[in-house]
Amino acid sequence: MLPAIRTIGALLVIVLSLSSSCNAVGTTSTAVSSLPTLSPTHQRQTSTLSIEYYDSEPHGNSTSPVAILIHGFPYSIDTYVNVVPKLTAQGYRVIVPSLRGFGGTTFLSPTTPRSAEQAALGKDVIDLMDALNLEKAIFAGYDWGTVVVNVAAALWPERCSGMVAANSYLIQNRETAWNVAPATSFPVKWYYYVFLTPFGYSSLANDTKGWADVLWSKNSPNWTFTEGELDAASLAFHNPDYVDIATNFYLNRLLYATGDPAYADLANQLDKQPVITVPSVTLDPDQAVVFPVTDGSATAKYFTGPRVHHIVKGCGENIPLQEPQVFADAIFEVSRLGD
Ligand SMILES: *[C@@H]1O[C@H](CO)[C@@H](O)[C@H](O)[C@H]1NC(C)=O
Ligand SMILES: *[C@@H]1O[C@H](CO)[C@@H](O)[C@H](O)[C@H]1NC(C)=O
Ligand SMILES: *[C@@H]1O[C@H](CO)[C@@H](O)[C@H](O)[C@H]1NC(C)=O
Repeated sequence: MLPAIRTIGALLVIVLSLSSSCNAVGTTSTAVSSLPTLSPTHQRQTSTLSIEYYDSEPHGNSTSPVAILIHGFPYSIDTYVNVVPKLTAQGYRVIVPSLRGFGGTTFLSPTTPRSAEQAALGKDVIDLMDALNLEKAIFAGYDWGTVVVNVAAALWPERCSGMVAANSYLIQNRETAWNVAPATSFPVKWYYYVFLTPFGYSSLANDTKGWADVLWSKNSPNWTFTEGELDAASLAFHNPDYVDIATNFYLNRLLYATGDPAYADLANQLDKQPVITVPSVTLDPDQAVVFPVTDGSATAKYFTGPRVHHIVKGCGENIPLQEPQVFADAIFEVSRLGD
């Protein structure tokens, strides 16, 4: 089944366009009546969340190989709008969940800590698989999604038939979080530090779309994304926990926020930087700025199974939205590696 294009009320889109400060894209003044979004979405409860997800086979089909695609920040499931049809055409069942704090993924309890620590994000994928009775799947992601698929593949290899990850391996050992950083890292990771502050929090809260525009432009400098792509993603930022989750990711990674005690054991395992044993395809875009392109050799020690590394030329950090065929091909390749 092909993803339908969700039609958005023209009035809403006009309002979004008027509030745009985007200079990186073309026709901002033209009202659009539909956005490149994945729909319909469904909801499934885990012990902590009601997770929103797109499912190309919502009634299940135990014979289809399953791919679970994880988006980054500040992006949405709609990152994968052009990847999904390429996978379904080859017989895959494709599931694309909204991360906690994004889109329709909400917390069941007001008292659950709004933690975006790596252990929680990875466990959410496994919890969703349990809720959907899925035993095994290919996990694929970029940006925050790389952290998520690294964690899920490393800690639950029996649930993962293969992993596709931009930037290879981003599981963090908290003991190194305060290592002296090179001066050159600050101009590219500047927003990590902004989000540690009340100024960063209030600015993101006031203008989630403006922040996405800035980060998309700065982190993928040669990418001419469309106003429609930005508007589609921005819909996912209207979640009551979005700002808390977005800023907590950086607070937690830089040790300014402790994790949720419910994930302490998993978090401790991740500090040991567990290896990834499942077949893996890793992709380094050569025009991403936060994680500069590599030949993959520095991260080879984290992969003990078959692993292929590619450099993606002419691409910024969001490979699935910018180069959907490359991302889909990586999933087909990891599937063959596992045969
Ligand atoms: C289930 O998936 C297989 C393999 O992709 C496909 O051939 C078959 O038509 C699917 N069945 C249903 C009911 O969708
Ligand atoms: C708050 O966000 C709106 C757009 O949503 C923007 O027009 C306004 O300038 C922002 N205020 C500040 C102080 O940045
Ligand atoms: C953007 O493209 C130009 C021209 O192709 C190139 O010189 C420049 O290095 C690219 N920027 C990045 C960050 O890769």
